[in-house]
Amino acid sequence: MATDLLVLGIESSCDETGVALVRTQGAGTPRLCAHALHSQVAMHEAYGGVVPELASRDHIRRVLPLARQVLAEAGQTLAEVDVVAYTRGPGLAGALLVGAGVACALGAALERPVLGVHHLEGHLLSPFLGADPPRFPFVALLVSGGHTQLMQVAGVGRYELLGETVDDAAGEAFDKSAKLLGLGYPGGPALARLAEQGDAAAFKLPRPLLRSQTLDFSFAGLKTAVLVQAKKLGSELEARRADLAASTEAAIVEVLVAKSLAALRRTGLDRLVVAGGVGANRVLRRRLDAACARAGVRVHYPELQLCTDNGAMIALAAAMRLAAGVQSANRAYAFDVKPRWPLAALNESA
Ligand code: KG4
Ligand code: ZN
Repeated sequence: MATDLLVLGIESSCDETGVALVRTQGAGTPRLCAHALHSQVAMHEAYGGVVPELASRDHIRRVLPLARQVLAEAGQTLAEVDVVAYTRGPGLAGALLVGAGVACALGAALERPVLGVHHLEGHLLSPFLGADPPRFPFVALLVSGGHTQLMQVAGVGRYELLGETVDDAAGEAFDKSAKLLGLGYPGGPALARLAEQGDAAAFKLPRPLLRSQTLDFSFAGLKTAVLVQAKKLGSELEARRADLAASTEAAIVEVLVAKSLAALRRTGLDRLVVAGGVGANRVLRRRLDAACARAGVRVHYPELQLCTDNGAMIALAAAMRLAAGVQSANRAYAFDVKPRWPLAALNESA
C-alpha cells in the first residue's frame, strides 16, 4: 500500500458525531487535514444522560453533512479518500452501527478499503496530533466517561493493562457528583467550572485505594460521600456548592495523579500520555504537570479540542495502525461492531 494515504475517520460511539481527514506522511506522524464535530449534548440534556436510540438517529442525520464539510475544508473530494476508518467499539451498539454502516457503504461505493478502530486506541494515540507528540514507550492514563485505565504502551497495538477502575469511571464520578449538585449533563465540565470558585480543602472526601499497592481505581464510594455531605448540608448546600465541587474534583484528581506516578515508578518509564474527556480537566493537568516535573517525567496531552470524542483520533489510529503494519484495511464491507471490547485484546490481533 502507498505510504501517502488520505484517511477519512468516522466516530459515532456515543453522543458526538465526529468526522475527520488525516494524511499519512511516510514514516512520520500523520497530519490532521480537517475535522468536524456535532455534539448531541443539548439533545440529551433534557433526559439527564445519553438516550441510545436518540443518539443513533442523530448520528444518521449528521454524519454525511459533516463528511461534506470536512472534505470542503480540506479541499479534497470523496474520490481522493484512500481508506475509510470508523469506530468499531466499545460504545453504544446502535450508535456504532451508524458509523460502521456509513463507512462500509462509502468504502464499497468508492471501491476503497475500510478499517474498524478501537475507540480507546484513538484516545490513547490522540496526543500524536498535538504540538508536542510523545514517543514510545509510555504509560497512558485513559480517563473518559466510560473508562479509567492505566496502560503500558510499547508501540502501536502493544498495550498492557496496568490497572483500571473496579466500579465507576473518573468521568462518571464527575458526572454523578455533578448531578447530585444540581448541575446539568455532562457534569464534568460544569463541576470543574463551579469548582474554580470553591475551596478544595473545605470537605474531607475519601480517596479510594490511594494508599493500596494496586494500580486499580474505585470511584463509586465518592459519589456516596458527596451525597451524604450534600444531605448533611441541607439548606446550606446552595451556599457551599462550589466548595463541595472543588473538594470532589480534588479527591478525583489526587487519586489519578498518585496512581499515574505509581505506574511510572513500577514500569520505570519516564513518559506519560493523558487522554480521554477528563484529560481536559485543568486541575488534573496542573497537578500532573507539577508531580511529573518533580519526578523527571514528560507529560503529553492531546489538544484540548481532541480530548473528548472526535473523528480525528479515529482517522489517526487507523493511519498509525496501517503505517505500523499491525492491521490492514479490508474490502469485505461486512462489518460488525463491538460494544464491549477490552483494549488489550488488540495485542492478539496484531
Ligand atoms: O472521552 P469522552 O469524551 O467520552 C467517552 O468516551 O466517555 O469523555 C467524556 C467524559 C464525561 O464524563 C465528561 O464529564 C468528562 O469526560 N469531562 C470532564 C471535563 N471535560 C469532559 N471531566 C472533568 N473536567 C473536564 N473539564
Ligand atoms: Zn471517548
